[in-house]
Amino acid sequence: MGQGKANEVENEVEIIPAHVAIIMDGNGRWARQRHLPRIMGHYAGVKAVERTVIAATNIGIRYLSLFAFSTENWKRPKGEVLGLFGLFRYYIKCKVKKLKEENIRLRFSGRTNLLPEDLQDLILWAQDETEKGNRMDLVVCLNYGGRQEIIDAVNRILDTDPETRPKQIDEESFRSYLYLPDLPDPDLIIRTSGEKRISNFWLWQSSYSELYFTDVLWPDFDEVRLREAVEEYQRRERRYGGI
Ligand code: FPP
Repeated sequence: MGQGKANEVENEVEIIPAHVAIIMDGNGRWARQRHLPRIMGHYAGVKAVERTVIAATNIGIRYLSLFAFSTENWKRPKGEVLGLFGLFRYYIKCKVKKLKEENIRLRFSGRTNLLPEDLQDLILWAQDETEKGNRMDLVVCLNYGGRQEIIDAVNRILDTDPETRPKQIDEESFRSYLYLPDLPDPDLIIRTSGEKRISNFWLWQSSYSELYFTDVLWPDFDEVRLREAVEEYQRRERRYGGI
């Protein structure tokens, strides 16, 4: 086989990003465009989550993480915060059975210990129920902040017994203090609704992530949009600081 042919074959290989992370934005604007209350935008956002989870498994994505509630989202009106918590409860209660059938492991990341107690119980139950899933890990970030995660990691190090505390920290040992140390860094981070910011998501983990921004509002996101993002990722050349 000549060099040209070998390259052709190589070019045909589609590299599927192992970990895709999504900043789901634009629910409020989607609702406003329809003269609906904001919570209806979030409800439509749940439907987009359901579609995207199926789409991700169809594509062969191994880890999908979703930024559902940030440590800054507490600043929203109380009614909206309570409405969002209601939707998280609804999603967990209604979807765990299906996720289990689909071999999907549901996990959570963030300061979940500060969420309402019944939601914490549901989280523990859902993680337990789905822990054997090995087709895809679905990571829902709830009360998550990237800076807070780094600070929590530092405090966990300071809290360790001085006898066993590591004398020095390197990248690998630091990672072991993060919320989900086994989760690979995101290969691709998607943000919907035209905003072009990371907004405190996966700060430690995103150093070499490819960023993809789309004007599509989150409730309109679907498999076609996810495939577009993955195809754009496949056109990028990742150099990790090399040449
Ligand atoms: C941002 O849109 C969206 C959120 C803060 C909430 C995301 C939550 C969901 C999609 C609901 C359920 C999720 C799961 C995992 C079940 P925005 O309100 O900031 O929109 P705007 O910028 O247009 O106002």
